[in-house]
Amino acid sequence: MIEKIGVDISENSRFIDIIKDKKCYEKILSPTEIMVFEKFSYEKRKIEYLASRFSAKEALFKACNKKFNFNEVSILNHEDGSPYIEANFLDGYITHVSISHEKAYSIAFVILEQRK
Ligand SMILES: CC(C)(COP(=O)(O)OP(=O)(O)OC[C@H]1O[C@@H](n2cnc3c(N)ncnc32)[C@H](O)[C@@H]1OP(=O)(O)O)[C@@H](O)C(=O)NCCC(=O)NCCS
Repeated sequence: MIEKIGVDISENSRFIDIIKDKKCYEKILSPTEIMVFEKFSYEKRKIEYLASRFSAKEALFKACNKKFNFNEVSILNHEDGSPYIEANFLDGYITHVSISHEKAYSIAFVILEQRK
């Protein structure tokens, strides 16, 4: 059963400086996400990756209404590219996330489902 949903949109330009400031982006990204992020060679990809992970975590907060540190949650990708959420504090729930990027914005949508 769907418990709640959450959505969030980010303006990519907010992240232009943050991608160069490790102290700042490590507050948003988990250690696993940082490994992915630091391998990207293009700034545009770094910006949309960071913006979309930020949005996904804001959307997750809207769905679960629990305070958490953004760097404790990972938004990773299956082999086919589809995203999924890793968050230890959400035992008992199934999460679904969808992400899209455009030139100026990144958006994420999260569904929180109760495990039967
Ligand atoms: C995968 C696909 C849907 C991504 O769409 P896009 O417009 O290129 O890119 P968007 O910015 O909207 O979405 C990118 C995000 O989609 C998600 N994504 C990638 N592959 C996915 C998949 N297989 N399933 C669900 N989500 C996927 C990822 O989260 C990705 O962001 P991330 O890499 O930062 O995590 C697209 O590349 C694709 O393969 N489309 C096929 C459509 C098709 O077959 N059309 C045929 C008729 S023309």
